[in-house]
Formats: sequence, structure tokens, C-alpha cells
Amino acid sequence: MALKVPALPLTFVVHTLGIVGLVLVLVWNIHFRGGLAWEAANKNLIFNLHPVLMFLGLIFLGGEAIVSYKALPFRKEVKKVIHLVLHALALGLGIIGIYLAFKNHNESGIANLYSLHSWIGIGVICLYGIQWIYGFVTFFYPGGSPALRSESIPWHVVFGITVYLLAVGNASLGFLEKVTFLENSGLDKFGTEAFLVNFTAIITVLFGVFVIFSVLSEAPTVEDDNSYSAI
Ligand code: HEM
Repeated sequence: MALKVPALPLTFVVHTLGIVGLVLVLVWNIHFRGGLAWEAANKNLIFNLHPVLMFLGLIFLGGEAIVSYKALPFRKEVKKVIHLVLHALALGLGIIGIYLAFKNHNESGIANLYSLHSWIGIGVICLYGIQWIYGFVTFFYPGGSPALRSESIPWHVVFGITVYLLAVGNASLGFLEKVTFLENSGLDKFGTEAFLVNFTAIITVLFGVFVIFSVLSEAPTVEDDNSYSAI
């Protein structure tokens, strides 16, 4: 099933929304929340790295990795390496981002893993890791048989889209949770910061939507085939 629209213009929308989202999440955490730090007496600065790294990693680089087959004019083998490297970066930043949420909780005496966001978050990072390892072993090194590869590709696509949508949904839960904590501690519900955070979450959701549209649309015709043509 492929939408009868060319993918390339959709991937430009993806890049634009991703960069806007990245700027918004940085402005929020640096300008409104006081900045980013690995070590600090003010433990909130450690937490601030969590949304920044989760957005940059799982959402932005993860989305770019997914659309890379449709967005780039290279040979299939080159695109495969770009795809797996971008996903590795996404996964690495995601793991560090989650570590920092735990670090903030542990150094502030806050319990771990009490929220729906944190439970889904652990699920997302585990599934993302499993998807990456299975994809690496089957499609890159050592590589499965041709029969295994062609049987695996539709699953790889559907499972990848599912995990990605879970990540986007969970990031929205994270924005909601944090802004609710802040509002309960006195942040103006209709103020600039609350508005900025909700708007960042909307950009995140739109980014995810255009990633999916790009995946389901028609690849540009290039000299070689893509790794899959339809799901
Ligand atoms: C897909 C992206 C994300 C994943 C996988 C994820 C995962 C997690 C995990 C596993 C924790 C638990 C840490 C602990 O218990 O010590 C956590 C905490 C937290 N995250 Fe995220 N996160 C993501 C994005 C975000 C974003 C964008 C925000 C926006 C601010 C956010 C806000 C929070 C908050 C407020 C906490 C602390 C409260 C809690 O544990 O629920 N997260 N996150």
C-alpha cells in the first residue's frame, strides 16, 4: 500500500517541522527552564536534558532515519548505512536521555517509574533496541538469507512505524506531564511558557504524522530499487 503522492515534498515538511521542534524544545529548556547541565546543584537543570535529548534522539533523528530511504538520492547500500547510523544515534541519545531522567530523580529523592509516561518510555526504548539489533543482524551484518530478509521487511516496516508512533505519543505524554507539574506549582496556565510547551507537543505530533505520510508515499524513481516498495 503506497499513497499516490511523491514522497520528496513530504520529507521537506518533515525536516522543517523537526528543526522547528528542536528550536522550540531548546528555547523552552534553556530560556524558560534555566538551562542544561550534566552535574548541577539545581537538579532541574539535569532534568532539562531529558526532553532535549529525547526530542533530538528518538523523535528527530529517529524520524529522519525512517524517511532517509525516501529523502536521499543515494544508492540503496549507502542509504542502508545512513538509516542504521541515524537510528543508532537516536537510540544512544534516547538511552542517555532516560538515564538523565533517572539521575535527576535519584539525586532529588524522587521515586522512579511511577507514571504511565515512564512505563511506556521503558517499553519504547526496549522495543527500539530490539528493532535495531534485529534489523542490523538481518539486513546488514552478518545478514539473513534472501528468504528471511524478504519475509522480515514488512515486519520491520510495520514494527518500526509502531514503535515510532509510540515514541511520539509518549513524548506528548511527557510534555503534558511536565507542564502539568509546573502548572500545579504555580505556572500560569495561559502564560507564554505553557503555550510554548503545548505548541512544541503539537509540532512533535505533526512531525510524526508527516514521517508516516512520507513512509507511505511513493519513493522517487532512482536507478536502484528501495529496500521495500509497498507494505
Ligand atoms: C519518546 C520520548 C521519551 C521517552 C522514551 C521517555 C522516557 C522516560 C522515562 C523512562 C522516564 C522515567 C524516569 C524515572 O522514572 O526516573 C521519564 C521521566 C520523565 N519524562 Fe520522559 N521520555 C520521553 C520524552 C519526554 C519528553 C519530550 C518530556 C517533556 C518534558 C518528558 C518528561 C518527563 C518527565 C516530566 C519525567 C519525570 C516524571 C516521570 O517519571 O514520569 N519525557 N521519561
